[in-house]
Amino acid sequence: MQTISKPYLLNSEDLTKEDINLIFQKAKYFQDNYKPGDRYDDLKGISVALAFFENSTRTKLSFEIAAKRLSAETIGFAASSSSLSKGESMLDTLKTIEAMGVQIYIIRHGSSGAQQFLQRNTSGIILNAGDGKHEHPTQALLDNYTLLNHFGKLEGLKVTIIGDIFHSRVARSNINVMRTMGMEVKFLGPGTLLPQIYNPWGVEFCKNIDEAIEWSDILLVLRLQRERMNSGLLPSIEEFSKYYGVTLERISRKPQLVVMHPGPVNYGVELDYKISSYPNCLIQTQVTSGVYIRMACLSLLSQYLKN
Ligand code: CP
Repeated sequence: MQTISKPYLLNSEDLTKEDINLIFQKAKYFQDNYKPGDRYDDLKGISVALAFFENSTRTKLSFEIAAKRLSAETIGFAASSSSLSKGESMLDTLKTIEAMGVQIYIIRHGSSGAQQFLQRNTSGIILNAGDGKHEHPTQALLDNYTLLNHFGKLEGLKVTIIGDIFHSRVARSNINVMRTMGMEVKFLGPGTLLPQIYNPWGVEFCKNIDEAIEWSDILLVLRLQRERMNSGLLPSIEEFSKYYGVTLERISRKPQLVVMHPGPVNYGVELDYKISSYPNCLIQTQVTSGVYIRMACLSLLSQYLKN
């Protein structure tokens, strides 16, 4: 059986280099061979629930497209219109969906660790589509797959992750995947949004945006997550943009520099709108990669249901 080492996808830390390379190979196969209208049989007869307790555009839609291209039956679950509003627990909700024959769950939740808790209480397969500030493993996989396609390698590449690192599950997942693949990672951001005290990865900080541009092959710019912030973390949005915002003027002296952002973007805050037409801005490519990476993850994990 060709699959990844764990029968779920909860944390980037669980992924070995071999797992990541296998996911990339499978994604490349789908990217090279998929034609509009194609349906693969990988998930034929399997029901997949998309349970999003937090809003999403890219992750939800790309998982849904991926599951449908693999012939799964997909069930959308909107927390706001469910019996959760009547007091049913998250676990009872999962058990209810499980009793209907669902075997794969794609879950986004605002609480860090929610999917890990649910996985311990189901025989189904859970894919983490983002849990609080903790992890977003498929985002890190699609970011690194995009970089592999752009540079032809990952080993030795230098990335600065810029902005709101403290609240970012994308940063956490990317650090693990990037380091596993032999890349170097630094951070840049205001002190209140950097994990200064709790920096388990021992990541170095850039002093300013100019140093980040000089050192890096890639700037991974993050969204300022105002919905997860307490007040007082930033003096003003204008000041954040002035010191940490990535603009076309700032990066123009290094035309080979790659700019990425997981989306959604606050244009005018962390990223200048003009960057969207910069040739090495890979934001749209990241979105496209997301479908193939999620097809690959679903296809590989479905092997566990067939044995
Ligand atoms: N990158 C990302 O997770 O985007 P969505 O919130 O739109 O899914």
